[in-house]
Amino acid sequence: MRHSFYQKSRAVRLAATLLTVVTISPAWAQQGDVTKGGELFATHCAECHSMKEGKDKKGPSLFSIFDNKAALRENYVYSDALRNSHITWNAESLGAYLTNPKKLVPGGKMKYDGLESASERADLIAYLARQSKH
Ligand code: HEC
Repeated sequence: MRHSFYQKSRAVRLAATLLTVVTISPAWAQQGDVTKGGELFATHCAECHSMKEGKDKKGPSLFSIFDNKAALRENYVYSDALRNSHITWNAESLGAYLTNPKKLVPGGKMKYDGLESASERADLIAYLARQSKH
């Protein structure tokens, strides 16, 4: 009797601890899969973006985008909205932009409806972060 009660309360405590870890550490929760992120980039972003330095397409090159300020490419003509946004691209801002570009940057010119799945966004962000560490 005593023994099984002990085991149960231990399981409850363990579950509570895990729940706390998941809820209070978004950085941990956001760790995405770089390989999947690369595939998502190919299907969702590569039409307009290259990861190569200086290679602008419809959208600017995303070379070394992570932890850098928005609208830094010299030869790309950005919207005024993005140029004046003072955004730094990190997991949080990229998460918001990829969810709904027009909401984070009203008047911006990225014609992308947004990526609904939080886990796919995390994968894509992991890929962009990895690509930025040369
Ligand atoms: C239909 C074309 C198109 C697609 C698809 C697209 N983008 Fe963009 N993206 C743009 C354009 C155009 C801009 C410039 C926006 C502006 O100036 O307001 C941009 C800007 C950006 C920026 C800011 C760049 C900077 O220099 O500050 C990031 C980051 C970005 N896109 C990421 C992505 C990712 C990741 C995807 C895939 C999920 C994606 N985009 C899909 C066209 C696109």
